[in-house]
Amino acid sequence: MAPGMLGRPVTISGLGTYLPASEIANAELPASLDTSDEWITQRTGIRSRRVAPVGVSASDLGVPAARAALSGAGLEPEKIDLVICATISPDNLMPATAARIAHEVGALNAGSCDLSAGCTGFVYALAMASGLVASGLREHVLVVGAEVISRILDWSDRGTAVLFGDGSGAVVVSPADGAGRILGFDLGSDGSGADLLSIPAGGSRMPATHETVTARQHYLHMNGREVYRFATRVISESAHRVLDRCGRAVDEIDLFVPHQANLRIIEAASARLGVAPDRVCTNLQRYGNTSCASIPLCLTEAEESGRLKTGDLVLLMGFGAGLTWGACLMEWSGSRR
Ligand code: UT7
Repeated sequence: MAPGMLGRPVTISGLGTYLPASEIANAELPASLDTSDEWITQRTGIRSRRVAPVGVSASDLGVPAARAALSGAGLEPEKIDLVICATISPDNLMPATAARIAHEVGALNAGSCDLSAGCTGFVYALAMASGLVASGLREHVLVVGAEVISRILDWSDRGTAVLFGDGSGAVVVSPADGAGRILGFDLGSDGSGADLLSIPAGGSRMPATHETVTARQHYLHMNGREVYRFATRVISESAHRVLDRCGRAVDEIDLFVPHQANLRIIEAASARLGVAPDRVCTNLQRYGNTSCASIPLCLTEAEESGRLKTGDLVLLMGFGAGLTWGACLMEWSGSRR
């Protein structure tokens, strides 16, 4: 079997999402950010984002999405073998946010762990879950992308604060029992770009001190221009690799679901790849960049709006801190909510 391909057929058996109610339009962002609706809309495509109330953490957003995915899969929580939470804004550095989610949803028989791969985390977690189910080591794995990024943003930095939003999305990965299955993955990373997008302080590399807090190093920092260049290059390369491995062609793609970082990145990468705009899924206009939640949020919306039908070829594409990237190719398997 070629690397990146799967053994026993596996599929997404349930989908769910959750978004905090509070919506902040560009014009409602703090005046101290010295930004404008015009700049944000033209440079990113983002018009508004959701922000979780004070006291709400990533697991709090992940739990309702996880419950919805379980309901879509028609599974009792006891049937889940493993919960993986992909996040860049975990409840704590330790323990894993996934442990709290597993406990809250009643996944009493599940192991749990978090997965850190920047905004690519959801695709990485989907790959891990798919591999475990394909090998028979696990039967049903719950993958949750949950983010309260508003809590790790420097609200005095207009270069990052305007870009992100809070939200969550979850899927259940199970053995495929009919049409539609996950076909393969391409995963990659380049740690030489680790400092281009990071939270510098608070880990073992730079433990938190009064000085790091004063220097605001416990917040997300990004070299936007460099990450932009990386993203537009890597998307089409990774897409071609997974298509080649699965023996499929670009013109067979029915729906392209890229990570929602910037509309200009999505448009440039789709054009480079050769996917027509009407086959590209976006929601960053309403939610901003929700990191590990952006792909399951898009996927769920696509299904809810009737954009996906059984057998459709779907390409998921993540990219972000690490630097990391990840592509997943799948045949859609019908209604899963
Ligand atoms: O999800 C993880 C992956 N993340 C990404 O993929 C993000 C990738 N990067 C980007 O999307 C873009 O680089 C940004 C949206 C972050 C920035 O857009 P840009 O077109 O690359 O802008 P820039 O950083 O080159 O800045 C251009 C100008 C600068 O002013 P000067 O130096 O030309 O006077 C910035 O200070 O825009 C200014 N600027 C802003 N102005 C108003 C930067 N942010 C803002 C802002 N409002 N929010």
